[in-house]
Amino acid sequence: MSLKRVLSGIQPTSDSFHLGNYVGALRQWVALQEGHDAYYCIVDLHALTMETDPALMRKRTLASAAQLIALGIDPNRSTLFVQSQVAQHNQLGWIMECITGFGEASRMTQFKDKSSKNGSDSTKVGLFTYPMLQAADILLYQADLVPVGEDQRQHIELTRDLATRFNSRYGQTFQIPEGFILKAGAKINDIQEPTAKMSKSSGTSNGVIELMDTPESNTKKIKSAVTDTGREVRFDEKEKPGISNLLTIHSALSGQTISSIEKDFDGKGYGDFKSAVAEVVVEYLRPIRTRALELLEDESHLITLLSQGAAKARVVAAQTLDETYKNLGLVQ
Ligand code: TRP
Repeated sequence: MSLKRVLSGIQPTSDSFHLGNYVGALRQWVALQEGHDAYYCIVDLHALTMETDPALMRKRTLASAAQLIALGIDPNRSTLFVQSQVAQHNQLGWIMECITGFGEASRMTQFKDKSSKNGSDSTKVGLFTYPMLQAADILLYQADLVPVGEDQRQHIELTRDLATRFNSRYGQTFQIPEGFILKAGAKINDIQEPTAKMSKSSGTSNGVIELMDTPESNTKKIKSAVTDTGREVRFDEKEKPGISNLLTIHSALSGQTISSIEKDFDGKGYGDFKSAVAEVVVEYLRPIRTRALELLEDESHLITLLSQGAAKARVVAAQTLDETYKNLGLVQ
């Protein structure tokens, strides 16, 4: 029996992943290594759709790789690689652009949101074709499952449409992938603005818990997290969004159920509760951060691991691209 194939990608757009990335997605990447053939891609080409600084790009790509390994992506089990090292992504991306309607691409809500925020002059064409490159990332590996957050649902739908369209016009070429949409219990909010998703781009810096931040700084942030009126530690997203978010964080990392945490803090105040959450988070993240820092100390080893991943990825990608070109009638 062959294992189902999983593929996902993450942009190297920050020095550190945050707790929302981890609980919402990356932890599932780790779990899916079990029983699946997993491909995980640091999508640096996608990151170029926003203006980038070369030194930061390099630093963040390596930092992303180090953190992924530190949090449990095992480069011996999974194929962990950098998108720009596998040229087939761009090559298949072009083919995808050639079968996507202009109107179809114009309906992508992420493009619409980002381009309306930035205005058409600073919106890059690459942002418009971003979903077609993403489709190529997925289809090159004949992925069965694509674990992503809710915000990627439309891109996965487009990928499925493009694969179906290509297969029916040019013959069976691509596996039709399923989105594996991560949700419920996995949604971590900003700890300063607990009704908004934890996010580097929209959040407050004090509201985002970073994997690479020092234990002292994360402790301080959690102790100054926004709480709600009243003094009961109780899960109630409407009346108590702050406390509910902290309960979700505690439960996600400690593995304790929300109701048992509520019980532990029965009769105690918010202060005690926040200290406990800080301890759970800091102790959970400590070994991850330590391991990532160790990996970053030996950059050449890290680069070797990534180039081994790219070599493995290239074998599969080249096979799919050959088949695609052949089915299109391109003379090779
Ligand atoms: N667009 C995805 C995001 O912003 C990142 C991504 C690029 C991706 N290529 C992918 C995710 C392929 C899954 C599969 O989160």
